[in-house]
Amino acid sequence: MNLAEGESKMTHFDLLIKGGTVATAVDTFAADIGINDGKISALGSDLQSTGRTINAEGKLVLPGGVESHCHIAQESSFGLMSADDYESGSVSAAFGGNTTMIPFASQKRGQSLYEVLDIYHERAASKSVIDYSYHLILSDPGESVLKKELPAVFDQGIMSFKVFMTYDLVKLDDGQMLDVLDVAREHGALTMVHAENSALINWVSRRLLERGYRDPKYHAVSHPRAAEVEAVQRAVQMAEFIDAPMLIVHVSTEKAARAISTARYSGSKIFGETCPHYLFLTSEQMNMPGPEAAKFCCSPPLRDNKTQEAMWQALQNGTFQLISSDHAAYRYDETGKLNTGPNPTFKECANGVPGIELRMPLMYSEGVRKGRISLNQFVSLTSTNAAKMFGLHPRKGTIAVGTDADIAIWDPDLERRVSVEMLHDNMNYTPYEGFIVKGWPTTVINRGRVVIEDGTLKAAKGSGEFLKRKPCDLTGMPGNVAPEFIPEKSFNARLR
Ligand code: URP
Ligand code: ZN
Ligand code: ZN
Repeated sequence: MNLAEGESKMTHFDLLIKGGTVATAVDTFAADIGINDGKISALGSDLQSTGRTINAEGKLVLPGGVESHCHIAQESSFGLMSADDYESGSVSAAFGGNTTMIPFASQKRGQSLYEVLDIYHERAASKSVIDYSYHLILSDPGESVLKKELPAVFDQGIMSFKVFMTYDLVKLDDGQMLDVLDVAREHGALTMVHAENSALINWVSRRLLERGYRDPKYHAVSHPRAAEVEAVQRAVQMAEFIDAPMLIVHVSTEKAARAISTARYSGSKIFGETCPHYLFLTSEQMNMPGPEAAKFCCSPPLRDNKTQEAMWQALQNGTFQLISSDHAAYRYDETGKLNTGPNPTFKECANGVPGIELRMPLMYSEGVRKGRISLNQFVSLTSTNAAKMFGLHPRKGTIAVGTDADIAIWDPDLERRVSVEMLHDNMNYTPYEGFIVKGWPTTVINRGRVVIEDGTLKAAKGSGEFLKRKPCDLTGMPGNVAPEFIPEKSFNARLR
């Protein structure tokens, strides 16, 4: 931080944000922010500019959100295209206070990673209004992928990928998981894991269907907690064996959270993420006859109030580093949730819920305003930690001289009732319909460009930039243990 005390002489800034309360992951302070050439060039009091000034008195001035788990213009693990493309997805993200998003570029079996990236660059470049990168989804890690293509992808600055332990179209077996972890370790990449035990889910599902329990509401029953807990424990063992970092995404159970914190407290680089739907929704909401419960089908499924509390605790105590939307938007019509017909079984309806625009407002309203997390924790969980873990910090995820001017100005007292009509995604429902949310971003700035102002989109489609990322930096993540607890070199290291 570079605080120029009492500097009141007139300077030129392309943009000056004046009179607000700035918060980062570690500090909260009053400051004006001067922006030139898309970067923060001054932080101080009483800055004056000949350029444009935004009055932020009474407002919070926060780093723009880094949304690191969302599915945009992506074929799902069921093979269904998501409702949002890079235009609607990024616009919705921006209205929700985000200035960077990292969706997935998904490999179909048999496809080279070069082809995958060509396709996703084509989908994103002319459309995104905010900066973006991708994580790969690896479904076919053969010899060429492991030895040639993945290292080439890392060279392009795509330093993370997701693997699935379930879903027939994408899942890897344990040997394949070990292979990709080994490559990730060598290149400083981060492996994200969808951890659910496939056989257990299929075993329960078969019995439910045989007994006539077919409606979407049984989705939650068909993905028992044990499926997540077993897979998380197995994934953690594999990561520890290889000595590679791992992020368990969309954690939904207390026992899985405990497995993550136990691993990290014994020195392993195991990290965790949860999502708003595990904090604000429960499977009770699916207790309705017929297809409508499909609106709430996601994997892992919604749980109960007790689990919600456990997820809050894991955010508060540093077990989880990230709160991500897992925006996986499928409309409630024949293009999405009902694409197999008007009465899908729980096995047929697309998995995923939308939420990219509401992630930060919900967390601010229910988290910060209700005293569950501090404002600084809010910034770390929604922005700074993702920027660090995914190789974008300090360019993204903080407010300091020299960083990208990625800023969301929040009105902490603005109260709105959530409805599908007010959102900017391409959806025809929101699972949060009727929620009262207090505290909203009103102006959103990405690399000095005003993207959202006065409820209006100001940026052109295609003005967001692809971000080349560095290897992941996991030092100093919340919940990390002191170096003296780091165990002796892993088995893998000794084999080399
Ligand atoms: O149900 C979900 N979460 N759908 C999106 C795909 C995934 O597994 O993240
Ligand atoms: Zn997943
Ligand atoms: Zn996801």
